[in-house]
Amino acid sequence: MKIKLGVLGSGKGSNFRAIQEAIDRGELDAEARIVISDVVDAGILDLARSHGIKAVHVPPGKFKTKLEPEIEGQIVQLLKNEVVELVVLAGYMRMIKQPMLDAFAGKIINIHPSLLPKFPGIAAWKQALDADETVTGCTVHYVDAGMDSGEIIAQSEVPVLPGDTPETLHARIQIAEHALYPEVIRKFASQSA
Ligand code: GRF
Repeated sequence: MKIKLGVLGSGKGSNFRAIQEAIDRGELDAEARIVISDVVDAGILDLARSHGIKAVHVPPGKFKTKLEPEIEGQIVQLLKNEVVELVVLAGYMRMIKQPMLDAFAGKIINIHPSLLPKFPGIAAWKQALDADETVTGCTVHYVDAGMDSGEIIAQSEVPVLPGDTPETLHARIQIAEHALYPEVIRKFASQSA
């Protein structure tokens, strides 16, 4: 049985693309049932549509970094309607709270561009550069009510190279993300099979 994914993203959706390509290549026994974004013109919605996957814009409401509980409830309903088994945050720029944390307890994962617990929050690659790290990376973790603070599932290291700019480092981290995220989801898929 394919594990049913619900994907939430706010940006270009390159992680979603990597996941979908792994599915299309037959390497990941999963099905993206729905992609939801808080940003009306997010690339991730166009990507979903181009793959024939349901793409829904849910306006986020009055808060900047989280959702109003009623709006989060609407998202829970959309995910439940698709019988989603794993909620995959792929560049979703809002914190998850109630009611989603209860509705999908232990079933919401996120990818973050640093070796957590180092550098949670915004532009983690720039934080690593500013801190003169020689190694950074990416982390897949369970989502809790905090900022990038949930239990770590898997990490991948990425070197910081001399002359790196925020852009070159972020690009290198993203390559690692695109390998790590499908691999982690594959483990969830094999456990649910
Ligand atoms: C990634 O760098 C991810 O780690 C962070 O947001 C970015 C999303 O990029 N949470 P994309 O939209 O998947 O290209």
